[in-house]
Amino acid sequence: MATNRTFTMIKPDAVQNGHAGKILDQMTEAGFKVIALKYMQLEETTAGNFYGVHRERPFFNDLVTFMTSGPIYAAILEKENAVADFRTLIGATNPAEAAEGTIRQRFAKSIDANAVHGSDSDENADIEGNFFFSQFERF
Ligand code: CMP
Repeated sequence: MATNRTFTMIKPDAVQNGHAGKILDQMTEAGFKVIALKYMQLEETTAGNFYGVHRERPFFNDLVTFMTSGPIYAAILEKENAVADFRTLIGATNPAEAAEGTIRQRFAKSIDANAVHGSDSDENADIEGNFFFSQFERF
């Protein structure tokens, strides 16, 4: 069942480069409502567990190192058709392939430092949102 919610992180590169405000603005301008929001730095274990599905992939260690390199914003967003619409808004995982005007095309530098994460299914949106937020942190 579609939940109309997705989960996102604004990654260390975008925060470090001062783009977090513009990225959040692009998300809300596109119709996404912020249900929950946190500013935090991930520890190695937390990042490794979050990206556990990629543990056997060759980029896993670099991904964890990068995601723990500085603070991130984590958020649950709400909109009709949230998961698919958000993935359109952020663009392809590799910013070199991201469509004009998408968040990754505008703000990302590489496939590792790709500015934002977006859930790839309703099921994962639920799992990822629950990973970061309790029921008392959602509005
Ligand atoms: P994200 O959507 O956060 O999910 C996993 C991340 O791994 C992805 O964004 C990329 O930043 C990173 N990554 C690095 N190399 C690859 C790759 N070859 N394929 C997919 N993701 C990759």
